[in-house]
Amino acid sequence: MPTKVILDVDTGTDDAVALMVAALSPDLELIGATTVNGNTAVHNCTENTLRVFDWIGLPLTPVHQGMSRPLARPQMTQLNPASRIHGDLLDLPPPTSARLQPGHAVDWLIDTLLASDGDVTLVPVGPLTNIATAIQKEPAILEKIPEIVIMGGAHDHGNSTASAEFNIWLDPEAARIVVNCGRPIRMIPLDATHRALVSLDDCRTLRALGTPAGEAAARFVEKRIDGYDATQPMHRAGAAPVHDALAVCSIIDPSVIRTHLIPVDVETGGELSVGRTVCDFRFRSGRPANVHFAMDADEPTFVAMLMEILGRTA
Ligand code: BDR
Ligand code: CA
Repeated sequence: MPTKVILDVDTGTDDAVALMVAALSPDLELIGATTVNGNTAVHNCTENTLRVFDWIGLPLTPVHQGMSRPLARPQMTQLNPASRIHGDLLDLPPPTSARLQPGHAVDWLIDTLLASDGDVTLVPVGPLTNIATAIQKEPAILEKIPEIVIMGGAHDHGNSTASAEFNIWLDPEAARIVVNCGRPIRMIPLDATHRALVSLDDCRTLRALGTPAGEAAARFVEKRIDGYDATQPMHRAGAAPVHDALAVCSIIDPSVIRTHLIPVDVETGGELSVGRTVCDFRFRSGRPANVHFAMDADEPTFVAMLMEILGRTA
């Protein structure tokens, strides 16, 4: 039986690859996507999500638009030159068939989870504003959530600041609510995503698959590599992380990451460290472990999964 998932996305280039993996993998059933302010304004994230579903021939996948700003902070602009990695609009044609569904993403999340058999995994790969808002508005959804698989966080080094990863940094209050919600949490932070890079050679292979998803992924990853090489080089040039897709792949094959079950909290008050995921590897806090936190990833397995799944058509 495929695992049912909802992706909560701020669709830029890596969210787009994550959406295609979730939509095309036979091991997942993508119930729908909710969009949130993040890589770009929420209406652009929505437009990008519709472009992706249209391009791969799945225009009927439900898309609901969500929160346009963080829970408790003013709208923040990225410190990173993200436009070089994402841009506002993806390099795909505007949708001809895919349509935004009526109803706010938070209400759709609540209604869908309450009506479910408790078998829908939430996969937020943007700031956690929608998920935190849904939990606050209707706490009864919690008992219906089997697991939340988050792309976010950083232990060794951040990307928005020295301390913080972008998805957590943009809305730390929301992230704190979600990681402490009491349900099983798997976090795929930069520590893992930076260990599973996709290269220019891989892009050539993706394009050669001859599928819409392979072509789009090649385009997006090439843009990412250009941006990373120019602004935040990885340990080897000509390769970039595709963070959000690794989170989705970890649901299909958990062996693609290596996790530690530890207490994790989010810094919301620090002057220099706001948005940091505070990882208590040595259990100094006395708090129970609440997060399966990934510190490593298997790059060959990840790349092979992308090739296999993105070689498929709808
Ligand atoms: C995360 O931030 C966004 O820019 C990416 O889409 C990813 O979800 C990586 O820090
Ligand atoms: Ca994202």
